[in-house]
Amino acid sequence: MKEVACLNGRMLPLSEARIPVDDRGFLFGDSVYEVARTYGGRIWALDRHLARLRRSLAAIAIEGADLDALRADILEAHRQSEIETAVIYIQITRGVAPRSHVPDGAMTPTVLVTVRPLGGPGPTSRPDEGVRALLMPEARWARRDIKSTNLLPNILAKREARSAGAFEAIFTTDDGWITEGSSSNVFVVQAGTARTPPKGAHLLPGITRDLVIEITRDEGIPLEEALVSRADLFAADEVFLTGTGAEVIGVVRIDEETIGSGRVGPVTRRLLDAYHEWIAAGRDGLRE
Ligand code: PDD
Repeated sequence: MKEVACLNGRMLPLSEARIPVDDRGFLFGDSVYEVARTYGGRIWALDRHLARLRRSLAAIAIEGADLDALRADILEAHRQSEIETAVIYIQITRGVAPRSHVPDGAMTPTVLVTVRPLGGPGPTSRPDEGVRALLMPEARWARRDIKSTNLLPNILAKREARSAGAFEAIFTTDDGWITEGSSSNVFVVQAGTARTPPKGAHLLPGITRDLVIEITRDEGIPLEEALVSRADLFAADEVFLTGTGAEVIGVVRIDEETIGSGRVGPVTRRLLDAYHEWIAAGRDGLRE
C-alpha cells in the first residue's frame, strides 16, 4: 500500500510530487478539482466525476487537458497504490506562468491526481445517531456550481462549525434560502416527500445528490427539486446531507433546534441503506 501521485502524466510517490511556485492554482486558486473515493477496490462514480470536471474546466475556460488520458492515469495510480479504500483527488490548474492576472499566450494545464487511504471510520459508521449542523451566512461567489479550489468561505464556515462541535455548516442566503453545506448537499423530508434545492449557479451539482435522487425514484420515495427555506429546514421531519465522504447522513440538530424526533429518520435510513446496496452492486454508471 503506498500513496501515489500522477503529475502531468508522470507516476511518482506522493511525497515526491512538486508544483512550481508560479502555478496558478497556488497563486490564484485558478483551478478546479474533484474528489472521488473507492469502495472494495473500485472507484465509485468515476465517469460522473470526470463529466463534472469537464464542465468545470469549460466554465472557467481551462483548455488542453486530455481527460481520456487522465482517466487512464487515475486507474493506473489507483492500481499502483494498492489502496483498497482510497480517496482520489484530482486538480487541474490553468498552468504555470510568471504571476499576472491574465498571462500572455497559451497555457498548458497542470494535472494532478493523488491517491491516499481514506482515513478513519466514515460519518455513517453510526448511522442512527446523526450529526449536528450550524447555519452560516452564504458568503461565497455567484458560481457555486463550478467546483473551484477557491474554498476559503467553505473552510471558514466548516472550521466554525467544527469548533462548536458540529459536523457541518449549512449556508443560508440573506433572503432565507438554503443552498448547501460547506462540502455536502442538503435534503429535507416532510410528510414522506424529500426535497432538495434545484441545480443552478447557487450550489454544486453533487454526484451523491444525483445518485440519491435516482435512488428515490427506484425506491418510490416522492422527491421534488425545489427551493428550501430556513423555515422548511426547522419544520422538517428529517434533514440529511449527501456527499462523497458523508454518503447520506442524518442531521438531528441545527443550531439549537432538534430536527424531527432527534434521531435519524426512516427515509434517511432507507436512502443510506439503498445507497450502500447501489455501491455493492456497482450501480454508478461507470464503464469498465
Ligand atoms: N466536496 N457541495 C460542496 C460545496 C462540496 O464541496 C461537495 C463535495 C458537495 C457534494 O458533492 P459530491 O456528492 O459530488 O461529493 C456539495 C468534496 C467531497 C470536497 O471538497 O472534499
